[in-house]
Amino acid sequence: MALTQTQQFQPGMGLTTTKAPFIEVARSRGELYIEQPYELYSEENHEAWRRLYARIQDRWQRYATEKFLEGVSKLCLDPNRVPRLDDVNRFLAPLTGFKAKAVSGYVPAYIFFDCLRRREFPTTITVRDINSLDYLPEPDIFHDIAGHVPMHTDKRFADTLVRFGEAAHTAARLVQEIKDPELQVQRIISITRALARFFWFTIEFGLMRGKNGELKVYGSGLLSSYGEIAHAIESPDVQRYPIQLEWVINQYFEIDHYQPLLFIVDSFDHLFDLVDQLERWMLEGKLNNVSPGEPTMSEEDIRSFLEAVVD
Ligand SMILES: [Fe+2]
Repeated sequence: MALTQTQQFQPGMGLTTTKAPFIEVARSRGELYIEQPYELYSEENHEAWRRLYARIQDRWQRYATEKFLEGVSKLCLDPNRVPRLDDVNRFLAPLTGFKAKAVSGYVPAYIFFDCLRRREFPTTITVRDINSLDYLPEPDIFHDIAGHVPMHTDKRFADTLVRFGEAAHTAARLVQEIKDPELQVQRIISITRALARFFWFTIEFGLMRGKNGELKVYGSGLLSSYGEIAHAIESPDVQRYPIQLEWVINQYFEIDHYQPLLFIVDSFDHLFDLVDQLERWMLEGKLNNVSPGEPTMSEEDIRSFLEAVVD
């Protein structure tokens, strides 16, 4: 009898970022969507979660937008154990229809946005190494569940993510109509770059005006970083501007240091309207030649748009 995926692995052996055989096997088999083999988490993984969760509480209270704090309490996350996605979804799905869906690693651009369209959030299940709680280039479950998912309890924010997915769907339809293969690839790269930059400066690193005009954080890259959440609001080295679509889509970014430039929205209604506008600009051809630079699109990203089912 064939072994199931989980039987090949010892309970408690660990699901640590870049050190998880379960993930390596899934990827080698080409499995993007996976189960969360909860018994594989080690005590060290749970301890890493416990420390990350405990130390960021005060910073969330001080810097996070109210909607995020409400989301955290609605999800009833266990401060002491790595969350089970099934438990998170039991609280989340009735609120907005969103669900966290376990993935084995990088999700090609169109597939990522298409998941959002279906109200599924591709979620990393590994936990960062306990010896490097401060920085890692890859997402982990703390970034995805503690940083992103509380925002998904808010109806308007959830609708905004769906609009991102719909905009990507429109992009796939537009580029698939192009007959010249070279132009087609150039167009995918430009439009996807615009989408990815907009996502980065809002969903990942966005700031919002609070009720009394003070700045609050709603971007998940900031909400999951003990150091950067404070830096984003307090540091004189950060430039913060009211968001402008034409700027954001042409602004490159680097992922390996604190962000020096952040953009502010007024509300989630404002953010939703901006995604609408982004899609309109796409249809009008205004995303066809955005400035070069990060992020780069991989072959997989490009192929994901060409192979998308858009009917
Ligand atoms: Fe993220």
